[in-house]
Amino acid sequence: KRPLKVAVLGCGSVGSQVVRLLGEQAGDLEARVGAPVELVGVAVRRLDGPRDVEVPDGLLTTDALGLATRDDVDLVVEVIGGIEPARSLILGALENGASVVTANKALLAEDGPTLFEAAAKAGRDLYYEAAVAGAIPILRPLRESLAGDKVTRVLGIVNGTTNFILDKMDTSGAGFSEALEEAQELGYAEADPTADVEGFDAAAKAAILASLAFHSRVTAADVYREGISEVTAADVASAREMASVVKLLAICELSPQGVSARVHPAMIPRSHPLASVHGAYNAVFVESEAAGQLMFYGPGAGGSPTASAVLGDLVTVARNRLADTRGAGESAYADRAVLPMGET
Ligand code: HSE
Repeated sequence: KRPLKVAVLGCGSVGSQVVRLLGEQAGDLEARVGAPVELVGVAVRRLDGPRDVEVPDGLLTTDALGLATRDDVDLVVEVIGGIEPARSLILGALENGASVVTANKALLAEDGPTLFEAAAKAGRDLYYEAAVAGAIPILRPLRESLAGDKVTRVLGIVNGTTNFILDKMDTSGAGFSEALEEAQELGYAEADPTADVEGFDAAAKAAILASLAFHSRVTAADVYREGISEVTAADVASAREMASVVKLLAICELSPQGVSARVHPAMIPRSHPLASVHGAYNAVFVESEAAGQLMFYGPGAGGSPTASAVLGDLVTVARNRLADTRGAGESAYADRAVLPMGET
């Protein structure tokens, strides 16, 4: 079988782990896909930048668009993050006939429908399991496994950095700043920690979760958002006295009026399964009519766990490509009202 050619856009904490796994798992990937999966290029901002992986000779380029739209490229992995140039690169890749895997929660939450429409028009796959809760398989279960059920509520701890900070404050009595510094040292926080601590990252993920759970279109602008920068050591201590713990929750709900999504710190009883999510771990608690309660739990941040989800998508889109078919896609949206912020 001819090899499937992969371009990776971005070689930061996630991209470098994707490149590493593509090399280390080449034999297994070939067996699972049914054809060799060959890395043909890695787009970076600077050729001489420091990176956590040795990229094979001749594969590095600073021309991301040129790489994403190369005619021989079958699969494009976008792990640059942010809105632009990521959006133009993904659209260019799809238009040029490539299938795309991305971990870009901010872009999907802001402008997902544009990407989904471009993928549908091109007849190509766009997969993004890594965009929410790192290694935890949650998007495919919502989109596919639970598609015959009616999901009514999704409660998630979907930001590892803030969970690490709140957990640290709870277990050691540390203040917010001290705990944030430690999270940054461990590499959980985004380059600009505002996205984590002010809840923007969690709000983007809430928009994606609500869209898939309720087959609706929810964008980051529809999500009420409050971060954890105002949570004090005293708040955490008084929660503790009430046998509770403070967590930053993403809450997505379906009501007869419509769909709502919000992110804010919440006190939850220590007996709730979400209370035992420690460190940078994530968990997503799902309630549905037929299945009842489900919980998805695992590492929600970090290069290697996130790369695991990217590689899983890569195997799926590579198989689809060989079979000349597409995955489920998001084209079928129910006509559900998205409630104004704060209403449930
Ligand atoms: N900064 C994010 C987090 C990374 O802490 O969860 C994963 O999106």
